[in-house]
Amino acid sequence: MFKRTLITSALPYANGPVHIGHLAGVYVPADIYARYLRLKGEEVMFVGGSDEHGVPITIKAREEGVSPQDIVDRYHKIIKESFEELGISFDVYGRTTSKTHHKTASDFFRKLYDKGEFIEKVSEQLYDEEAGEFLADRYVVGTCPHCGKDGAYGDQCEACGSSLSPSELINPKSRLSGSTPVLKETSHWYLPLDKWEPKLREWILENHKEWRPNVYGQCKSWLDMGLLPRAVSRDLKWGIPVPVEGAEGKVLYVWFDAPIGYISNTIDATPDWEKWWKDPESRMIHFIGKDNIVFHCIVFPSMLMAHGEYNLPDNVPANEFLNLEDDKISTSRNWAVWLHEYLRELPGKQDVLRYVLTANAPETKDNNFTWKDFQARSNNELVAILGNFINRATVLIHKYYGGMVPAAGEILDSDKAMMEETRRNIESLSENLDNFKFREGLKDAMNVARIGNKYLADNEPWKLIKTDPVRTATILNLAVQLCANLAVIFEPFTPFTAAKLAEQLKIKELKWDMTGKFDLIPDGIEIGKPELLFEKIEDDVVEFQIKKLEDAKKQNILNSWKPASVKETVEFPQFEKMDIRVGKVLECEKVPKADKLLKFKIDDGMGGRTIVSGIAKFYNPEDLVGKEVCFIANFAPRKLKGVESQGMILSAEDADGRLVVISPSGPVRPGSSVG
Ligand code: MF3
Ligand code: ZN
Repeated sequence: MFKRTLITSALPYANGPVHIGHLAGVYVPADIYARYLRLKGEEVMFVGGSDEHGVPITIKAREEGVSPQDIVDRYHKIIKESFEELGISFDVYGRTTSKTHHKTASDFFRKLYDKGEFIEKVSEQLYDEEAGEFLADRYVVGTCPHCGKDGAYGDQCEACGSSLSPSELINPKSRLSGSTPVLKETSHWYLPLDKWEPKLREWILENHKEWRPNVYGQCKSWLDMGLLPRAVSRDLKWGIPVPVEGAEGKVLYVWFDAPIGYISNTIDATPDWEKWWKDPESRMIHFIGKDNIVFHCIVFPSMLMAHGEYNLPDNVPANEFLNLEDDKISTSRNWAVWLHEYLRELPGKQDVLRYVLTANAPETKDNNFTWKDFQARSNNELVAILGNFINRATVLIHKYYGGMVPAAGEILDSDKAMMEETRRNIESLSENLDNFKFREGLKDAMNVARIGNKYLADNEPWKLIKTDPVRTATILNLAVQLCANLAVIFEPFTPFTAAKLAEQLKIKELKWDMTGKFDLIPDGIEIGKPELLFEKIEDDVVEFQIKKLEDAKKQNILNSWKPASVKETVEFPQFEKMDIRVGKVLECEKVPKADKLLKFKIDDGMGGRTIVSGIAKFYNPEDLVGKEVCFIANFAPRKLKGVESQGMILSAEDADGRLVVISPSGPVRPGSSVG
């Protein structure tokens, strides 16, 4: 048995704010777990912090013309404050640019180096001769060998999503100077993961069969493919210098230093840090997203084994991904709900977000967040079930007893059944939380509120008060005891609401061992005035958010739009063959049974002609009458929906994808040639 639990949550990169995907995947479940263990009176250390190294931070800094330190200072602050405001109850939230971390990570590397745990190898890497720097994969751009689009990065093409290596890029260029990179030899330190493979196999595949199937499965497939030595240093200016003579210009690879951040941050939290990391009676749980599995289950454990003094994680409950409105969350496309913006735009609604993200947690498969679902869960569950029960119970106590909790009389079988059912749900809740099934656990908690509503509906104290005041007192006593249970069991999920409720019920401290009991609030205690724990989320609130996302989508299209590449060269005689003229629209009407087509009668200065054009979606026919348009006069006639079209009206696409007809900028006689 273990004595204490060290909970870590992936250190978010400080190159941008956190969004709901991060929250649902890592921070909300980690926080629920930490709060749950604390309620049970267990010894817990919940560690978080910002990951402040890595190439993307240097790229962002370069784009903005500031230093990497400026970037991480900015985002560390935003991230830390928004986590706090959401009630993520870290015992420590550190950063990997701290002094402690630089020392801890250097010492860690040095220890492995001195023990001979690294292999030193020379390899060829892309080098920018003009800038005099080696190039990280992200610093090389070129044409994608798969889709042919320009602007693919050395590690990935964002246009088609394929992962690349810089050597695959067609016509590679350095993002630093624009010059063509050359290959140059460089030496790096590698951690031979293959050396740890047998131990990893036994530790995970034999001894941790209880891990989530997605985690276990990913580990198994990595192990089955066979592990290779992995470079743990980089030629880069931003990072922790490799603490070895003659390693100038080299830093620790970000994935080497970042997980050591868990140790550094524990050191910053307490002088007694070693017990959390080294005592075999301490266990460690890593909360992460699925893209981090290999680093937390294979690479970091190999580092820890090579070091030799530290515990390995006991479980790694990694989540899958959360999508947003059926589309992948993306920072570069601004397709996200950013936590700091949510907190500003929906003030006081922290618990609603925590609730919805848990109810939709991507625990076993990718899941989807939509604002409509957010509204529905808020209004139909938090307001209509949980809030409603607590409100009814406390309002009645104020109405009938001036707020003093009445003493219970005889307990009937139906009361006992209600209590039993409550206990059953709470047991199931406990078991689910013990097994990192937060979504199922939340359902159990909500069921307890449902039991309360049913209890009131079955017993109708508002009717009974006239005929049987003694029985009414019992019912309302038990109802308020149920409220006290709800305060405890919702604390991990919706801590702000639980605290309000505890205060209202005059409960000094919420503890898990209160659950399942029905004597938590003594008779005669005066409870606080009923206040609405949850308010409805109105339509305009979610409409605003949906509009914001639509705007982001439009902005993206604008940002990514490029004119089509220019067609093959034509000589003047060829061009001259095209007979483009100006005409005036005499009549315009929809073509029956064709939703795209408009039929034009054009004054072409030669007796008139009919042209059919596929722009019906973009215009009211009447609005075009009298307009001057350009058309191809010698375009071979063709039949469209039974109408012969004698030419083609010229148009161009606007930013919203709508076709706009091309008109001369001043009056021109019908039939004039364009050229
Ligand atoms: N910054 C990484 C990410 O966002 C996670 C780092 S977790 C740590 O994917 F263990 F390395 F700290
Ligand atoms: Zn591509």
